[in-house]
Amino acid sequence: MASRARQNDASDGFGPKRLVAMGYDKIAEEYLARYGSSSVRDRWLSQLVMLVAPRVRARILDLGCGAGIPLTRHLTLLGHYVLGVDASARQIALARRNAPLADFIHADMTTIDVPAASFDAVAAFYSITHMPRREHAGLFKQIAEWLRPGGVLVGSLGAAALPDWQGEWMGTEMFFSHYDADTYIVLLREAGFAIERMEQLDQDNEVTRFLWTVARRPTAPARAGRLRRTERSELRGIYSNSR
Ligand SMILES: C[S@@+](CC[C@H](N)C(=O)[O-])C[C@H]1O[C@@H](n2cnc3c(N)ncnc32)[C@H](O)[C@@H]1O
Repeated sequence: MASRARQNDASDGFGPKRLVAMGYDKIAEEYLARYGSSSVRDRWLSQLVMLVAPRVRARILDLGCGAGIPLTRHLTLLGHYVLGVDASARQIALARRNAPLADFIHADMTTIDVPAASFDAVAAFYSITHMPRREHAGLFKQIAEWLRPGGVLVGSLGAAALPDWQGEWMGTEMFFSHYDADTYIVLLREAGFAIERMEQLDQDNEVTRFLWTVARRPTAPARAGRLRRTERSELRGIYSNSR
């Protein structure tokens, strides 16, 4: 697939995204050793596998693919086509080694140039929460465009509001930023997604929780506009607190 980055803000620009990319350049191996295994992630990876199962060779975009373990590698070994994107050069180097059947782009995920409607699924596991939250709405719109009608987004979002946070994490300077579940429901709907599943789950390998989400690009255009109050309260029932 012909894909490229319009520009690599993550490594050439300044600000939080560059900080995140540089941070993962430093901690890539340590991150994998510490967080490479997670029953929570495995469960959502299984969800993704199930959702793309009707296709023998699904096309999957892995945003913030990290070192390619487990997602990129597992999905390619199942016979799917995976395009991994990561802002960290070190993570991409590890991913190329760990998942040699996949293609990769070293770039900020918001700058990639991929054809519209070209993916059956987009995975974003633990990556969007590293991006300034003011960019999340725009990213959801891009993801909706990259997905074919009927395609799905599976990933982890923030479970509670966290305005741009910068500080020490795993011995390096890091950045996290996200909204709460109610806001994500609105933003995903505004991007045209139908939310199929949302669940707030504690991580098994760190004291934190994420809002795991399955959102589908409908085959018919979704109704535009903000959610009415009644719709919003119906949607609230979609996600549950696992604690
Ligand atoms: C916590 S790691 C998750 C890696 C992998 N998805 C996993 O499940 O373990 C987050 C990854 O997202 C990448 N990332 C963060 N912001 C990004 C951005 N704006 N564009 C591309 N990759 C980004 C980081 O470089 C890092 O490799």
